[in-house]
Amino acid sequence: MKYGYFDDKAREYVITRPDTPLPWINYIGCQGYFGILSATGGGYSYYRDARLRRLTRGRYNNVPADFGGRYVYVRDNASGDYWSPSWMPTQSDLEDYSCRHGMGYSTISAKRSGIRTATRYFVPLDETLEIWQTTVTNERLTPADVSIFSSVEFCLWEANDDATNYQRNLSTGQVEVEDEVIYHKTEYRERRNHFAWFSCSESLAGFDTQRESFLGPWRGWNKPVAVEEGRSRNSIAYGWSPMGSHHVKLTLAPGESRQIIYVLGYHENPNEQKFDPPGSQTVNKTTVKPIIAKYRDAKNVEAAFAALGKHWDELLGVYQVASPDEHANRMVNIWNAYQCMATFNMSRSASSFETGIGRGLGFRDSNQDLLGFVHMVPSRARERILDLSATQLASGGAYHQYQPLTKKGNNDIGGDFNDDPHWLIIGVAAYLKETGDFSILDEPVVFDNQPGTEVPLYEHLRRSIQYALDRLGPHGLPLIGRADWNDCLNLNCFSDTPGQSFQTSTSKDGKVAESVFIGALMVLSARELSALASQVGKADDAAFYADVAKTMDETVRTQGWDGEWFVRAFDDFGRKIGSKENEEGKIFIESQGFAALAGIGLDDGKARSALDAVRKHLATPHGIVLQQPAYSRYYIEYGEISTYPPGYKENAGIFCHNNPWVVIGEVMLGNGDAAFDYYSRISPSVREGISDVHRLEPYVYAQMIAGRDAPTHGEAKNSWLTGTAAWNYYAITQWILGIRPEYTGLRIAPVVPERWPSFTASRVFRGVTYDISVKRTGAGNTVSLIVDGKPVDGDIVPPPAKGVKTVKVEALLG
Ligand code: BGC
Ligand code: NOJ
Repeated sequence: MKYGYFDDKAREYVITRPDTPLPWINYIGCQGYFGILSATGGGYSYYRDARLRRLTRGRYNNVPADFGGRYVYVRDNASGDYWSPSWMPTQSDLEDYSCRHGMGYSTISAKRSGIRTATRYFVPLDETLEIWQTTVTNERLTPADVSIFSSVEFCLWEANDDATNYQRNLSTGQVEVEDEVIYHKTEYRERRNHFAWFSCSESLAGFDTQRESFLGPWRGWNKPVAVEEGRSRNSIAYGWSPMGSHHVKLTLAPGESRQIIYVLGYHENPNEQKFDPPGSQTVNKTTVKPIIAKYRDAKNVEAAFAALGKHWDELLGVYQVASPDEHANRMVNIWNAYQCMATFNMSRSASSFETGIGRGLGFRDSNQDLLGFVHMVPSRARERILDLSATQLASGGAYHQYQPLTKKGNNDIGGDFNDDPHWLIIGVAAYLKETGDFSILDEPVVFDNQPGTEVPLYEHLRRSIQYALDRLGPHGLPLIGRADWNDCLNLNCFSDTPGQSFQTSTSKDGKVAESVFIGALMVLSARELSALASQVGKADDAAFYADVAKTMDETVRTQGWDGEWFVRAFDDFGRKIGSKENEEGKIFIESQGFAALAGIGLDDGKARSALDAVRKHLATPHGIVLQQPAYSRYYIEYGEISTYPPGYKENAGIFCHNNPWVVIGEVMLGNGDAAFDYYSRISPSVREGISDVHRLEPYVYAQMIAGRDAPTHGEAKNSWLTGTAAWNYYAITQWILGIRPEYTGLRIAPVVPERWPSFTASRVFRGVTYDISVKRTGAGNTVSLIVDGKPVDGDIVPPPAKGVKTVKVEALLG
C-alpha cells in the first residue's frame, strides 16, 4: 500500500493523504539554517545547532507525535468555518491534499469550500531564514472573504532548557512588534546577541505574540480562539510562551489568487551594537531591515527559489545514471544523494527520532558520511575533515562526538571507541581520491582543540594507526575499548545499574576484549594509509602500513576465523562472540561484511564462505539482520546489545548501515546479482509498495528495519540520519555501478546484475565530465575501455589533457 508517488521529473515525492503511518518529513536548509518539515506542516527550525540555537519549539513525546509547527489557518469569514490546509492541526476534511517534498523545499496544498491554499516552504541559499509562500485561490463562482492566520511557537533558544526549566522560562519571554514584524528577543537583554523575526508581506488585520491570547485558555493549536472568532488579540508576550501569528484579511474575486509571503529569520548583531538607540533595550534592527524588505518582494523570493533549484541541479548533476532499474536510478540520481546531504549537515542531531538535544557530530559517523557526500561539495568535506581531526587526541584516539557550535570534543561522551581513529583515514582517503588535493595532508591541525599542538594532518593519520598498534589484545586483534562500530557491544561495561549509560561507563581495564571487526577495519585503513603515503612519496611509510595491513589480515584470518565465518569479538573473559560455540549470537553481519569489503579472505575462500553463511543465517526478504540467534536475555558481559528485545536495533534488527558492507563484499567476489539483490531489499523506493509495513518515508533510508525475531518484522525506525545513506550511496555508485575515483583516474569496474544489458552514467570528476556508456558483451565483469574512441588498458580512465572538459567512455563488460 502507498501514501503517494514519486514524481522523478520534479525530483519530488508527492504525499497524497496526510495520515501517513508516521510523520513523513523533509529538511529545509542546507548550510546553516535548518528546519524539519513534516507533510502536515509540523517540525521546528534552528540555526546551526539544534540544541543551542533553536528558533521554534518541538515537543517531546508528543501525542500525536507530529504536533506543533509552521501552521497556516484559513477562515471563511462568511460561514466562520476554519481549517488548516496542512490538515494538522485542525484535522478538517480536505479535498486535493498533497505535500510535495522536494530538494530543500516542500509544498503543502489543499482545498476546502472552494478555497485552495498552497504553501511552499524553503530556505534561500546563503541566508539564515525560511520563507513560506502561501497562495490562496478562490475557486468559487462567488467572491470570498477569508482570513489567513500564520503561527509559530518560539523556543527560548536552548532547547533542552526550554523543555524543562519552566520556573525560569515562563518569566523570561520577550518580544517586540514594529512595522508589523514580530521580533522574538528572549534573553537578548542579557547575554544573547541574536533574535528571531517573523514577517508578513501583507498589511495586517492583527497579530498575536502571546500563545494563550491566540489559542485561548484551555485550548490547543487545533482550536485557536483567534481563528475561531476571526480576530487577533494584538497581544504582546511578557513571559509565558511567546509566539508569532499574523492575521491577513483577503477579499478574493472568483478565480482570483493572492500570495502572502511569511519569513521567519535568525539574526545576530555585534555585541556593541545590540540596541537602538544605544542604552535602550530596543533591538537594533538596522542590519535586519534590508533583509526583511528584500523578501517582502515576490520577485526576490522567486529568484531565491530558482537559485536553490539550480544549486541542486549542480549537486545532483555530479553523478547521474540511467540503468535498467528505476529504483536504483531514482535513489542514485535524487533521493539517496539528497539524504547524504542531510546526514552530512545534520549528522545524527535532529530528526523524528533524534531530538536535537542529544548527540553532537560523531567522529565515526561524520567521517563515514563523507563517503556519500564528498563529491558534491568537496570544500565543505575538507572543512569537516579539519574540524574532526582537531578533536583527535595526541594518543591518536578521539572524542566520540563534538558540538557543531563550539567544535569542541564532547566531554560527557568521552572517547575510547577504538574504531573511531580508523574512520578518519577512510574519510581523508575518500576526499583525496575525489579531489587529488594532497595539500590537506600538510594542514596544521591541533589535538583536542589545544592551540600550540599543531601537526600536519598526515601525522594525525599516522597516530590513528599507532593508537590501534598500541592497543592490541591477547589474540593480536585490536582491543575494543568502549565499543566499536556497534555502539552496543559494550564488552568492558558490565552495567548493573538502571539508567547508567552503556556509552559512557566502563568498569574494566579493557585489556582483554578484542574486536575482529576493528581488525578488518584496520586492514582497510592501514592499506589506505599505505596507498596514500606512496602517493606523497613516503615510501617507508607506505611499506610500513602495507605490512601492518598484511599482519592484521593474517591475524583476522587465523585468530578471527570460526570455521565457516568470522568471529565477531572476544569478550572480557577471552571467549568468542559470534561463534558456533555461543548459544546465542553465533554469527554477526559486521565481521563478515567488513572482512570481505576489506578484501580479507578473497583468495582462500574465507570471504565466500562467510558471505554464504550470511545468506544462510542472516538474510531475510526485508534485509540482512545483524546477528542470529538474537539475544533472548540480558548479558551483562555484552552490554546494550542484549538490552533490546529480539529483532530490534542492534539485537538482530536489520541494521541498514551494515547491509551495504555485504553488498560491497559480493561485488568484491564478482557477484553482481547477489549484490544488487541485497541492495534492493532495503531500498526505500523498492519498499514504497509496502508502506503500510515499512511505515516510514519511502524516499529515504531508515537506520533499522525490525528483524525476523520481531513481531513487527519489516517495520522501519530512525529514518533520515543514519550512516545507511552514505554507505548505500557508496555501494551502488562506486561498487555496483563501479564508477570509482582513484588516485590515478576514474575507475570503471561495474559488477551489475547479469540481466542488465547496458547502462549509461555521467560523472563529474575533478572538473571533467565523463559520459560513460557500459554495454554487456558476456556474463562476466571484465572491462574493456574505449576512451574518446581509443582503447585503454585496464579499467582506469586516466585524466585527460589539460583543458579537456568532457570525456567519452565506452566500457564493454564481459
Ligand atoms: C543505539 C545505537 C547508537 C548509540 C549511541 C544506542 O542506544 O542503539 O544505535 O549508536 O545509542 O547513541
Ligand atoms: C548509530 C550510531 O550513530 C553509529 O555510530 C553506530 O555505528 C551505529 N548506531 C551502530 O551501533
